[in-house]
Amino acid sequence: MGMKILGIESSCDETAAAVVEDGRKLLSNVVNSQIDIHAAYGGVVPEVAARSHIEVINPVINQALSDAGLDWDAIDAIAVTYAPGLVGSLLVGTLAARTLAVLKDKPLYPIHHVEAHVYANFITEQADQLEFELPSKQPEFPMLALIVSGGHSQLALFKDHGDYELLGQTQDDAVGEAFDKVAKIIGLPYPGGVAIDRLAPEGDASKYTFPKAKLQNPYDFSFSGLKTAVLRAVQAEVGEDYTFPSYELPARLNDVQRADFAAGFQRAALGVLVDKTEMAYREFSPRSVVIAGGVAASPALRELLRDRLPTPIEYAPRQLCTDNAAMIATLGYYYAQKKAPVDPLDLEVVPSLSMTKTAWNK
Ligand code: KG4
Ligand code: ZN
Repeated sequence: MGMKILGIESSCDETAAAVVEDGRKLLSNVVNSQIDIHAAYGGVVPEVAARSHIEVINPVINQALSDAGLDWDAIDAIAVTYAPGLVGSLLVGTLAARTLAVLKDKPLYPIHHVEAHVYANFITEQADQLEFELPSKQPEFPMLALIVSGGHSQLALFKDHGDYELLGQTQDDAVGEAFDKVAKIIGLPYPGGVAIDRLAPEGDASKYTFPKAKLQNPYDFSFSGLKTAVLRAVQAEVGEDYTFPSYELPARLNDVQRADFAAGFQRAALGVLVDKTEMAYREFSPRSVVIAGGVAASPALRELLRDRLPTPIEYAPRQLCTDNAAMIATLGYYYAQKKAPVDPLDLEVVPSLSMTKTAWNK
């Protein structure tokens, strides 16, 4: 009998619970997205997010258990996201996990959300009722990971579970954040990554070209200059200077211009990710390369990287790239091999915690 871990995730705008066996077999995966709620505001509103988590957290957890066909007796441990994220959102998931750990007498493991994104790539099996397109085998170490989400852009080299080095990270905006901001500038809905991804194939990516940031550490990223370059180009295109308010820009663009900007920005942003991943691959010769985080759901990124890397690459299903609890339960398994559980009464959330400061990264 394998070790079955219930994962709980509520760090941003998805309330999620999942059960994973032995850090590789997905038994259930429930994600309640708040995208529709936040789309009306053009982004995540923290208070609204926390309230929505409270409303659905218990049903989502119960659904994950019933989808897996398990009762509490069959669950060996609970893993929960405790960092980083929105404080109110994190509190809902951790409080639910702490309470359940006490009530049901289960060991509790605190999981770092950004590390966990990488672990979506370790899910290679699933229960009969699930139909994900999973990788054929687990990644091997050393493993190069490109982590690209709404809050993070980094390249990490893993020597083993919990033993990794950050090669570089963003100095300003995360790449997903840049997608979301540029989408707003050109009048596309939240979340911008999905909208730009959808529109970009209709545009001419060479109509507008954008400069690449030069950084001291070649593995660091910077996307805020690119976002500003798009803003200036849009202002120039509609015949206004930098004093023209950005929120009035979308109405001045026609559909062709909008698609061209989406394509030009996407090419520039994804180009940087692919360039740096390839460079790291050549320098460090990892056995596996994985991509993780919401932006890793981009079919365009997947295709570009596959074309560029001199080695075959497998991808986690797109649904497991954006926020979910399967990745939390998966990392929970490997974490539990090395670390003791926390006292449920002591677990605190840490809204900002860089990836290299987690408890097991020693
Ligand atoms: O990992 P995630 O779900 O949440 C965070 O931990 O941040 O990532 C969300 C980010 C958003 O910025 C969204 O615009 C981006 O991932 N995203 C995409 C795509 N799908 C989601 N970016 C580019 N192409 C996509 N298909
Ligand atoms: Zn995430």
